[in-house]
Amino acid sequence: MRNPRTTDLVARDLRHVWHPFTAHSAWPADEPIVVDRAEGMHFWDTDGNRYLDGVSSLWLTVHGHRVPEIDAAVRAQLERLDHATFLGLTHEPGIELAERLLASAPAGLTRVFYAGDGSSAVEAAIKMAFQATAQRGEGTPRPYYLHVAEGYHGDTLGAVSVGGIELFHATYRPILLDTRMVSSPGVLGPGQSRAQRAAEVLAEMRALLEVEGQQVCAVVIEALVQAAGGMLTHDGSFVRGVRALCDEFGALLIVDEVATGLGRTGRMWAVDHVGVAPDLMTCGKGLTGGYLPLSAVLATEQVYDAFLGAPSQGRTFFHGHSYTANPLCCAAALANLDLMAERGTVAHAARVGERIGELTKDLADYDGVREIRRVGTMTGIEVAAVGERTGFAVCQAARRRGVWVRPLGDVVVLMPPLAIGDEDLETLCAAVGESIREVVQ
Ligand SMILES: Cc1ncc(COP(=O)(O)O)c(C=O)c1O
Repeated sequence: MRNPRTTDLVARDLRHVWHPFTAHSAWPADEPIVVDRAEGMHFWDTDGNRYLDGVSSLWLTVHGHRVPEIDAAVRAQLERLDHATFLGLTHEPGIELAERLLASAPAGLTRVFYAGDGSSAVEAAIKMAFQATAQRGEGTPRPYYLHVAEGYHGDTLGAVSVGGIELFHATYRPILLDTRMVSSPGVLGPGQSRAQRAAEVLAEMRALLEVEGQQVCAVVIEALVQAAGGMLTHDGSFVRGVRALCDEFGALLIVDEVATGLGRTGRMWAVDHVGVAPDLMTCGKGLTGGYLPLSAVLATEQVYDAFLGAPSQGRTFFHGHSYTANPLCCAAALANLDLMAERGTVAHAARVGERIGELTKDLADYDGVREIRRVGTMTGIEVAAVGERTGFAVCQAARRRGVWVRPLGDVVVLMPPLAIGDEDLETLCAAVGESIREVVQ
């Protein structure tokens, strides 16, 4: 039974609100949850039901919700400076956060450009790559991007242009940038190993670059996991091979770490697993601990240098937003990074990942499960389709067990807050396992 407040809020929502990535014809029947409050690993709805946040509020939450230290940092910042434009001004939280991010970043990254969400970081990175290569004195600009099928980099038009998920991206194709796409290194042929697949896709990429390499300004990839593509994992040799191809053909390597970055894979950055240093790297999502929208592009000095020159030369990066580097967001991010360092959150996340592996081991043998893919805490359980929206039905069954998860098609995603404890993790894996067995028979 829903209480009158819930009924009223849902009715008003249905009347006026348009939700992201939501099929609105199905939304009313899905009985929307109205979130009222949150604490630690859980949130509560307006009927008082408690849910374990099994996907970190869409891959964001690090230490949990309402973390006293982050709350205090945002409040303290609020007492001092709410906002100041970053166009022509600067401030301490923005400066300090740049230093802190670079201290943990892959070798060679020396500059931080702030953006708002993951998509806007990718948008900035792809514009930077075009302009940097155009301004480095080669003569002819490089108008193409090379990217990967099943990739997802956000929903703004530049980010969509380098995406490769038919369902999300095909509609917009007539209005997108001109790009070249290779196959996904995570979609294996029959009997193929991930290493074989990586070699095959690298060969495909090389063939494209041999014809048009001088016109490609950047290759855009997610490292080790194509997350929104269905937690498709690939071999590390793919990332290393793309780095080598970029060097050979003079293209910049953009690694999008919006989903994988900041500990998600059990290392600070996914590229740390494979020893690859990108020219441009994006991050977002967990940057503020899951509190506030803030993302960043980290760039090498070489990329940055391409934008230098007398103002009259017009080499400036003409890009930025009203709320770029909002101090409240930066304060939350600094508090998040402090806690991550103090608590050893990245090492903990690696252990959480291992534990997810152990707790889902039995499920891997269940007939209704096609495959379980995981890197660190990023877990996708692909279930066999039994009618329409099987993944969604599994998540609804988990919801009845007090666990909130959200699928990618028929891939049930587990991505708990990095700091989750063993008891909650057991609850999460047990509820998802039972829900799969209930729905996929
Ligand atoms: C790899 C990657 N890049 C970019 C984005 C877009 O981030 P946002 O939703 O914050 O715009 C996402 C979102 O899931 C992502 O997974």
